[in-house]
Amino acid sequence: MQQPVGKLLLFGATGDLAQRMLLPSLYALHADGLLPPDLTITGTARSDHDDDGYRAFAAKALDQFLPADRKDDSAVQSFLQRLFYQTLDASTIEGYAELKEKIGDISGGLAIFLSTAPWLFGPTIKGLESAGLAGDNVRISLEKPLGRDLASSREINDIVAEAFPEERTFRIDHYLGKETVQNILALRFGNSLFEPVWNARGIDSVQITVSETVGLEGRAGFYDDTGALRDMVQNHMLQLVALIAMEPPARLDGTSVRDEKVKVLRSLRKIAIADAPNLTVIGQYGGGAVKGEIVRDYTTDLGKSSRTETFVAIKAHVDNWRWQGVPFYLRTGKRLAERRSEIVIRFKPVPHSIFAERGGMLQPNALVIRLQPEEYVQLLVMAKQPGLDREGYRLREVPLNLSLDAEFAGTRRRIAYERLLLDLIEGDPTLFVRRDEVEAQWEWIDAIRAGWDANDLKPKPYASGSWGPSLAIALTERDGVHWHE
Ligand code: BG6
Repeated sequence: MQQPVGKLLLFGATGDLAQRMLLPSLYALHADGLLPPDLTITGTARSDHDDDGYRAFAAKALDQFLPADRKDDSAVQSFLQRLFYQTLDASTIEGYAELKEKIGDISGGLAIFLSTAPWLFGPTIKGLESAGLAGDNVRISLEKPLGRDLASSREINDIVAEAFPEERTFRIDHYLGKETVQNILALRFGNSLFEPVWNARGIDSVQITVSETVGLEGRAGFYDDTGALRDMVQNHMLQLVALIAMEPPARLDGTSVRDEKVKVLRSLRKIAIADAPNLTVIGQYGGGAVKGEIVRDYTTDLGKSSRTETFVAIKAHVDNWRWQGVPFYLRTGKRLAERRSEIVIRFKPVPHSIFAERGGMLQPNALVIRLQPEEYVQLLVMAKQPGLDREGYRLREVPLNLSLDAEFAGTRRRIAYERLLLDLIEGDPTLFVRRDEVEAQWEWIDAIRAGWDANDLKPKPYASGSWGPSLAIALTERDGVHWHE
C-alpha cells in the first residue's frame, strides 16, 4: 500500500504540535511541490472554526513558527486553500458522520494523524470505524506518548489494531525523522571502513548523550507524570541504540530495517532490581544558571514537591555476539549545561604502544556523531605534534572533521516532521516504529522502573547548568571511561 493518499485528516489541529511543527512542515512540503497536487488537509479539534477561521488560525501559526526566509506569500495563500476544518468532540461518537461528510470521497486514500492525548485514541478509533473512516485505504499515524508502561502501551496498540492492522499503523518517533539520525545508516552501511571494527573486538564503549537546556516548557503536568526515562529514553534514545547496534539490514525497507532494530531492543540486558542503584542514576534539577540565565529548581517550576526524575543515566548492555561486554552509557536531562545530542563510539586502545618509552601518550580513537545542534562526524585520531621532540615524542588527539553543516551548506535542513509527514502521505513505514519495537522498549524500561521502586530510589539534586548529579560521572569513571565533553 505504498501509494500516496489524496486526503489528510489531522486530529488535534489547533494544538501545540500542529502549530509549531505540523502546519509549518506541511507548508514546506507544499511550497517545494512535494505534496500530491490535489491533497486536501482537514483539521479537526474541539475549538469552533469554519474553514476560513481555521485558515486564519493556520496563517497565524505559520507567521509565528516559519523562519522568515521560508515564507512566500503566494505559496502560503495556495497552501491555505488546501485546508478545511470540522469542529469535533473526538470523545463522543456523534460528529464522526459529519466529519466523514466534510472530508468527502476517500477512494483516493486517507492518512489520519492523531496528535491528541492517548486517552482519546479509543473513542477516536471507534468514531472513525463507525463513520467508515477506517477502511483498507486509510492509514493512521500516532504521536507519543503511546502508554506509560508495557501494559498501557499494549492496551493502546490493541485498540488501534481493532481498526488498523500493523501495516497501516505509523507510530511516530520524531528522532527517526532527523536527517542526522538517518545519517547513522549512511555512515554505517554506506562505508566499508567501520563495519570490521564495529563490534566488541573493536569498540570499548558507546556513549549517547541527549542533553537539553530547557526545563518544563509549559508541560508541567505531563512531564511530572512522565519523567526523563519515559520521555526520552524509552523512545528516542533506545532508537539511537538500535541504529548504532543493529546488524546490517538486507535492504533499506520498513521490514528489513525494523526486523534488525527489534533484535537489538530484545537483546538489551534487563536491569535486575538489585542492580538498579548501580547501573542507573536519577536526578532532579535544582536552581542554577543555564547559559548565564538564572533558573529556578524543578519543584518551584512545578509548584509542588515531586520525585520525578529530570535526569537519568544508565549503563546498558546489548547481549548478543557483536556487543558482548561493551557498555552503552546513556544520559539525558533537562536544564543541563548545553543542548546536545551526540553519540560517541570509543574504540579499543592500540595493543602495544611504541611511543610509551619516548613519553608519548595515546588516547584510544573515537568516533563522535553530533546530531544536534551542529551536525558533524569527527574521527578522533592521534597525530604527532610538530617539533624536534628532543624531550620526548609528543602526540595529540586531533579530529578528522566532517561537518555536515558545511559540506551540505547549500541544502536546506528539513525538520523531522517534514520527512515523516511525507512518508505517511506516501505510505513508506521505514521511519516509523513498529509495535514489536515499542513493546521491547517498554519491557526494558519497566524493569528499570521496578528497580527504582523496589530500592526506593530518589532523584539526586543537581545544579541547573551542570552535567547532572556527580553519580552520573562516577557511573562511567569507575570503568575508566569519561563522558565526552
Ligand atoms: C520530546 C520530549 O519527545 O523530545 C521533550 O517529550 C523533548 O521533552 C523533545 O524536549 C526533544 O526533542 P528535540 O528534537 O528538541 O531533541
